[in-house]
Amino acid sequence: MAQIMTIERHILEQQKQFPNATGSFTRLLYDIALSAKIIARETTRAGLVGILGASDDHNVYGEQQQKLDIFADQTIFKMNDHSGQLCAMASEEHEDIMHIPPYYDNGKYVLLYDPLDGSSNIDVNVSVGTIFAVHRKISRGQQGTLEDLLQPGRRLAASGYVTYGSSTMMVYSTGQGVHGFTLDPSVGEFLLSHENIRVPDKTTYYSANQGNEKYWTPGMRRFTKWLQGIEGEGRKPLGHRYIGSLVADFHRNMLRGGIFFYPGDLQEPEKPFGKMRLMFEAQAIAFLAEQAGGYGSDGLGNLLDIQPHSLHQRVPLIVGNRDLVEKAEQYIRDYDQEWVAAYRPFRDKTLTTP
Ligand code: AHG
Ligand code: MN
Ligand code: MN
Repeated sequence: MAQIMTIERHILEQQKQFPNATGSFTRLLYDIALSAKIIARETTRAGLVGILGASDDHNVYGEQQQKLDIFADQTIFKMNDHSGQLCAMASEEHEDIMHIPPYYDNGKYVLLYDPLDGSSNIDVNVSVGTIFAVHRKISRGQQGTLEDLLQPGRRLAASGYVTYGSSTMMVYSTGQGVHGFTLDPSVGEFLLSHENIRVPDKTTYYSANQGNEKYWTPGMRRFTKWLQGIEGEGRKPLGHRYIGSLVADFHRNMLRGGIFFYPGDLQEPEKPFGKMRLMFEAQAIAFLAEQAGGYGSDGLGNLLDIQPHSLHQRVPLIVGNRDLVEKAEQYIRDYDQEWVAAYRPFRDKTLTTP
């Protein structure tokens, strides 16, 4: 019988390789897993407890918040605010940094999270997810600050996601490969089901919202034709799969090989950076992709090298098999000088902003 490995045991095993690990990291990942179990329970019965449907609140982006967004957001904060592992949190659903209540201890990590990814799919019973990223505290003093949150993805201590789909899976990396756990509801444990996930060399799918094609840059339109075998050396076309939940689209492509892209465009020239959130979605996903042998880019280069300048900063995301992502970068270099000229100052601003 294969060894049964729970996520808690797996995290402990991983931490043994860090001589000075104090186990606090283990506790933090355990608490995130517990949050996921609670959110999973609500997503599977959302239709029953009237949690479906939009609330009358709106988030920082002006998007109507779905009740499950709010439930997930509150669950993650309340599950992690008292453990003493964190000195601050940040959520896609909150404008500003979230401090640890004064009656709890501050820890040496910060947690950034997208509590419910794919919100538009909640009401139609399509997979949704949670995305999280953990940075180490680098600022002085007890409380976490924006400096602790706004770190490049290269410095991530861990990142991962939960996908609430046909089964509930939690996938994470602490920089030692990517490992997937499937929730066994009968025992309430995440059990190791996908050890050391590697993006397959064989690419199968591309994922993009082609409803936006009219606004895409010439290079990205040509790249898409190349993926379809229409342009270039007439390669075998990739299948097109797009669910509209980043976690679900990325998870499928990481297991089957392929590419996901939500590119920047010039539909609104003052916003050339696309829709994905750097701190709550793209950094975590690009870190996992690289840990699994893939690559995440903003179109100009490695997304993990971007120095963030604001919590809700958006970024183009092109992620998956390295050869496909680098091909997209080539098309952008060859055909999208106008877009690059509009986007680069925005990206480079991040390098000079104090
Ligand atoms: P969220 O629900 O957290 O706002 O994320 C939705 C994101 C991402 O999950 C998905 O890939 C993308 O939005 C879909 O955007 P379009 O509907 O514009 O394709
Ligand atoms: Mn999201
Ligand atoms: Mn969300």
